[in-house]
Amino acid sequence: MIKVEGLTKEFIRKGRDGKAVRKLAVDGLSFEIGRGEIFGLLGPNGAGKTTTIRMLTMQTEKSAGRIFYDGMPLEGNEKAIKEMIGIVPQHINFDNDLSVGYNMELHGRLHHMASADRQQRIAELLRYIELEDTVNMPPRQLSGGMKRRLLIARALIHRPKILFMDEPTVALDPQVRRRIWDLIREMAANGVTVLLTTHYIEEAESLCNRVAIINKGRL
Ligand SMILES: Nc1ncnc2c1ncn2[C@@H]1O[C@H](COP(=O)(O)OP(=O)(O)OP(=O)(O)O)[C@@H](O)[C@H]1O
Ligand SMILES: [Mg+2]
Repeated sequence: MIKVEGLTKEFIRKGRDGKAVRKLAVDGLSFEIGRGEIFGLLGPNGAGKTTTIRMLTMQTEKSAGRIFYDGMPLEGNEKAIKEMIGIVPQHINFDNDLSVGYNMELHGRLHHMASADRQQRIAELLRYIELEDTVNMPPRQLSGGMKRRLLIARALIHRPKILFMDEPTVALDPQVRRRIWDLIREMAANGVTVLLTTHYIEEAESLCNRVAIINKGRL
């Protein structure tokens, strides 16, 4: 489903003295993930997990390497691949000028969902994460854990075949965490491929079919 060969990212920024500072965040990473698999990406802070996800999801340009989805190279198939993937980012990024409901709505529209399907799907997801009462609130009025639940629900609106989840259960209470685990397992059983990062070993043990451990950008 996903194949990565020699994926590399070097960030270059300007230092105080005006000279270029280079940071090799991801260094020749190769792995494959099969359909319906739950694949965990583990490693210490700064290991390159988020950068890897961002390159796979076209949010950060790679410096080198190749990415394939279902045998298709990423280059030239960006649009088709964007329809296939859902993203739970590490950092909360809602639009606070829009209500919870409209943040969800916007996501569905960006994925060209028909109105009736969109409404139904949003209602169903908000009910699942027990946030249906917050639909008219701005996201900033939610608690930290509520925002994270909403982040997960938003990623699922367009029924992605591949889900990228960057520390999806950070700040969730134990009960909600278990519900999210059940949801992830259920999706994988239905053929959804999941790549997740986590710092919780018990989460990786309980959920993942396989894990990759990266350190300083290397497998
Ligand atoms: N936009 C950027 N510009 C420069 N360096 C960056 C940028 N984004 C990330 N880095 C660097 O790349 C390295 C990898 O960061 P990344 O966010 O991928 O780590 P991570 O494994 O997700 O860590 P965490 O567990 O803390 O989320 C770090 O050294 C970080 O400082
Ligand atoms: Mg990260």
